[in-house]
Amino acid sequence: MERKISEKVYYIGVNDRTTHRFEGLWPIPAGVSYNSYLALGSEKAAIIDGVEVSHSLDQIASIRRILGDRKPDYLVINHMEPDHSGSIAILRSAFPDITIVGNAQTISMVNGYYGVDTNTLTVKDGESLSLGGGSSLQFLLTPMVHWPETMVTLFAEEKTLFTGDAFGCYGALNGGVVDTEMDVEGYFPEMVRYYANIVGRYGRFVQKAMTRLADVEFDTVCPTHGPIWREHFPRVADIYDKLSRYEPLDEGATVIYGSMYGNTARMAEAAAQGIAEAGVKNIAVHDLSSSNLSYIIADLFRHRHILLAAPTYSDGLFPPMGEVIDAINLRGLSNRRVALIGSHTWAPKGIKSMSEALSAGSLELVAEPLSIKQAPGTDELAACRALGRHLVGAEC
Ligand code: FEO
Repeated sequence: MERKISEKVYYIGVNDRTTHRFEGLWPIPAGVSYNSYLALGSEKAAIIDGVEVSHSLDQIASIRRILGDRKPDYLVINHMEPDHSGSIAILRSAFPDITIVGNAQTISMVNGYYGVDTNTLTVKDGESLSLGGGSSLQFLLTPMVHWPETMVTLFAEEKTLFTGDAFGCYGALNGGVVDTEMDVEGYFPEMVRYYANIVGRYGRFVQKAMTRLADVEFDTVCPTHGPIWREHFPRVADIYDKLSRYEPLDEGATVIYGSMYGNTARMAEAAAQGIAEAGVKNIAVHDLSSSNLSYIIADLFRHRHILLAAPTYSDGLFPPMGEVIDAINLRGLSNRRVALIGSHTWAPKGIKSMSEALSAGSLELVAEPLSIKQAPGTDELAACRALGRHLVGAEC
């Protein structure tokens, strides 16, 4: 449902509370919003970004309620991932004369995805498009936040920046759309999970974009997911800055274990106790049989310390732990202290695979991996506790 958010800008996005997994991968129990906007000048009206295809008619209905008999002139595409671009072909059908505006990579993707290659306008970095009456949109290319074609659009007259995925988060909008009219606290954990899951690999590009935007004057940030930021933008920018520098948000610890029959679980629990004994209060413990990878990745980005524990399985790495390590390496996570615990019945192959897979990435171990044969006894559990204390910097 549309909402006026400033003199010349309307929110025309939608909520999705029925998709179970974003990108077919990541759970979204609180839903997600696909934000779209309408920017008005005295002569021209521009839609900024589309929505996911199954919500196209809602977006079109909002546009018609705002514009009446007037037709939108431009569809500006900041980002081509289909959660936003899905409505392009339907928007073109509803408004045949609309001009699709994007940079060269965008326009190529519009054709590749939707077979649309007419009435397009290719813009370059820094170029502006007049909406009449002194209003104009300026386009700033911010590649790889999160795809190569991503850009942001500045409506300088309204001090409003349309940022695509940047500064977005999971979570549908529950009535309010601007942060000043909402309790936004619950969106912040979902921001960390969204960033870590979706954009986490592209930290250096996010940093580049943030540097570029540092000199741009705006007071309203309109991302494609989650609340519109005004009052809380400094906190949002700080979170995005730290995450994209791979700096932890706090000095907590994430303990992740896989266990078939409980022995590795006991070792991980002992290590978590050691971490707590050292004074760390913020500890997340994930059992790989029940925790979804999405939440694990978020905690890995959030906390300074990581402990991984897994048994040998079929002469190698316990498969779900392989997924965790792949997720770490894929995103180039760094600036973390890491410790490993393995268990085995006759050959310590799992710990070796875990250690090799991790050292191929960007993380360093704080101690020799600890591998325990068969069931842990009192001494072995004490060693796990000591490793937990050492991980967070306490004397063993
Ligand atoms: Fe929300 Fe990268 O799309």
